[in-house]
Amino acid sequence: MTGHSSRRPTKAGVTNDSRWVLRVALPVVATLSIVAPLAWLWQDSRVPSVYSVMDMGYLDYGVGVMADTSGGGHGGHMQGDMPGHVPGHEMATPRLVTDMVADPPRPADVRVDLVTRQQMLSVGGRSISGFTVNGTSPGPEIRATQGQLIEVHLRNESVADGVTLHWHGVDVPNAMDGVAGVTQDAVPVGGEFTYRFGADQAGTYWYHSHQVSNPQVAGGLLGSLVVAPKAGIAQQVDVSAVAHTYGGVRTINGKAEDLRVPARAGQRIRVRVTNTDNGPMKIWASETYRLLATDGTEVHEPTEVSGRSVTLTAGGRADVEVRVPSDGTAVRVQLSKATAVIISPSGVDVPVPAQPADELDLLRYGTPAPLGFDPAHPTRRFEYRIGRRPGFVKGRPGLWWSINGRLFPHVPMYVVREGDVVVMHIANHSGEVHPMHLHGHHVVVLARNGVPASGSPWWVDSLNVLPKESYDIAFVANNPGIWMDHCHNLKHAAQGMIAHLMYEGFDTPYRIAGPADNQPE
Ligand code: C2O
Ligand code: CU
Repeated sequence: MTGHSSRRPTKAGVTNDSRWVLRVALPVVATLSIVAPLAWLWQDSRVPSVYSVMDMGYLDYGVGVMADTSGGGHGGHMQGDMPGHVPGHEMATPRLVTDMVADPPRPADVRVDLVTRQQMLSVGGRSISGFTVNGTSPGPEIRATQGQLIEVHLRNESVADGVTLHWHGVDVPNAMDGVAGVTQDAVPVGGEFTYRFGADQAGTYWYHSHQVSNPQVAGGLLGSLVVAPKAGIAQQVDVSAVAHTYGGVRTINGKAEDLRVPARAGQRIRVRVTNTDNGPMKIWASETYRLLATDGTEVHEPTEVSGRSVTLTAGGRADVEVRVPSDGTAVRVQLSKATAVIISPSGVDVPVPAQPADELDLLRYGTPAPLGFDPAHPTRRFEYRIGRRPGFVKGRPGLWWSINGRLFPHVPMYVVREGDVVVMHIANHSGEVHPMHLHGHHVVVLARNGVPASGSPWWVDSLNVLPKESYDIAFVANNPGIWMDHCHNLKHAAQGMIAHLMYEGFDTPYRIAGPADNQPE
């Protein structure tokens, strides 16, 4: 065939070419086609040695906003890249997080000095390297009465990485939020910082370091904060139970044993449980109980519960009320199977009550009450979709948490304006539980998996989101600043499961990393 013969003279050349293509060029191209994108992804995942949280990720203005925030006039979803440069607002002088403080001339009602140290802890007969506040872990409980101004003077004596104090669940002014690199610099060894904030809402809260927070919180740099209502506490006995696991040892208030509380027959006890671990815990009791408050907000008309446990998410608080039986025996409040609060007149005990198979559903507990705002007509709607996918985070390959499909640091910066009514849809497609925590605001649960809440308003600052679950939550943007919105499994946070909520026109003078080596996670 002619074609055949015409090809013959060049056959050797073709063969050589195709051999070259097969042996050299193809593998090179193939390798490059894998390596080049990987190299790009790797490079893209790295964070600079110093950067502003404002330059992280992309701006998300949400859906449903009228008019001008997106600059281009298309008032829907907008994703840009440099949060520091809000379109249409280049002219406005930014407000700084540091401006957001509590009434400076007002004298403090409660003053506390806290000294942080890095030291060995003795827990359940074991020696564990950890952290203390004023020589103990947990540190001292801070108690105030609603309406008082709290002033805490922090001095870091020996925590090498530096420390901060974050007031978990308290809607403090932004400059007092204690997030290293966002609202302040980490306090170095020998350094000091003064926190001032109003105890505006009665309830159970806690404080912990927000510098290198995963190891520092796990190592015990934390404590309890209780704000008593003006009218006084209704229960005769009021006790805090800070649950923490030190190196695998479960404790209450730092001790690897049950907490014994003396009380008389018939007395009512308020047990304020704080879960300072990375995972959820279950609470149940040997008698009926009432769940009085979640995350520092009273439940409206809580009824007696039996045969059900309460799930307390990481970072969350549950105030549980029990009554000492009139026959003078004990009542146990189990904080998981391992530890309990035993309340009894004379050191008597009762057997560990079996763990109920069912859980109390807070979507339907208590009775409805006004929210104080109308979430049916939100100003903005956001999505916080949690997934998991392969990629690079901080230059490391792995299977990482994603937010709205993106990996850290390309995470959303949710932008709001003061006064906005915000609805957020949180959906967990990641296969693991995530305790979602928004700083500076309390959020109310509107629905779970599309089923509307029908009980008491369920106010939280830390929300347990199970795999395959979705929540609709709402809040009023009433505390201007820049706020973290992250997973309180602090291991996950350190793996990049963090985003921020930012009020339009805000900026921070602080930097992540940099000379102060700020590492909020
Ligand atoms: Cu309890 Cu961002 O923290
Ligand atoms: Cu998580």
